[in-house]
Amino acid sequence: MNAPAPAGAVLRPVADTDIPAITRIYAHHVRTGFGSFEESPPDAAEMTRRLHDITRRGLPWLVAVRGDGVIGYAYAAPFRGRSAYRFTVEDSIYVADGEGGRGVGSALLAELVARCTALGFRQMVAVIGDSRNVGSIGVHAGQGFRVAGVLPAVGFKHGRWFDSVMMVRALGDGDGTPPRDPRA
Ligand SMILES: CC(C)(COP(=O)(O)OP(=O)(O)OC[C@H]1O[C@@H](n2cnc3c(N)ncnc32)[C@H](O)[C@@H]1OP(=O)(O)O)[C@@H](O)C(=O)NCCC(=O)NCCS
Repeated sequence: MNAPAPAGAVLRPVADTDIPAITRIYAHHVRTGFGSFEESPPDAAEMTRRLHDITRRGLPWLVAVRGDGVIGYAYAAPFRGRSAYRFTVEDSIYVADGEGGRGVGSALLAELVARCTALGFRQMVAVIGDSRNVGSIGVHAGQGFRVAGVLPAVGFKHGRWFDSVMMVRALGDGDGTPPRDPRA
């Protein structure tokens, strides 16, 4: 189902045909910024593998599309692999170069939060590079995330050290009720 978004865009679930655009958007941020701890952009085959790993788990991967063009994307991944983490997801958001600051990132994150809540997840974590990433920190704060801690200088990229800012928000009942566990 499509949802309206700012900048004349709509949000919809990802399709394999979006992979070239997603690969380009991510490569720009890997090369130029600190939002990703990767230093070499993955190719389309690797992005396809990552995308299928998310969708195979039934987790949401959304794209913001204007006309035929993908201008941003966001997805939820398992926060960590050990089983007790299974009600916690980690989000990632990337907006195309030149499309930032118009609300697309916020719209993607709001929709991701809604979908993960409906799926029964209870916490969403953002692992943000870097403390100076005012865009990402602002987008998450605007969607109800609070800073849970900073891991200082855990990354080294573009010739300098950079931090991980951990932000978190509860989904649905959060820790107020026991989760609905399909294995119970
Ligand atoms: C972080 C990112 C996804 C934000 O997307 P966006 O579409 O530019 O964000 P929005 O326009 O929805 O901004 C929402 C809020 O964030 C803040 N914000 C966004 N960009 C900002 C900037 N450059 N400087 C200061 N604040 C900023 C503002 O508070 C804004 O609130 P407002 O609407 O009241 O002004 C985008 O900049 C991006 O792709 N960055 C590089 C990759 C990255 O770091 N991703 C996050 C990985 S967790």
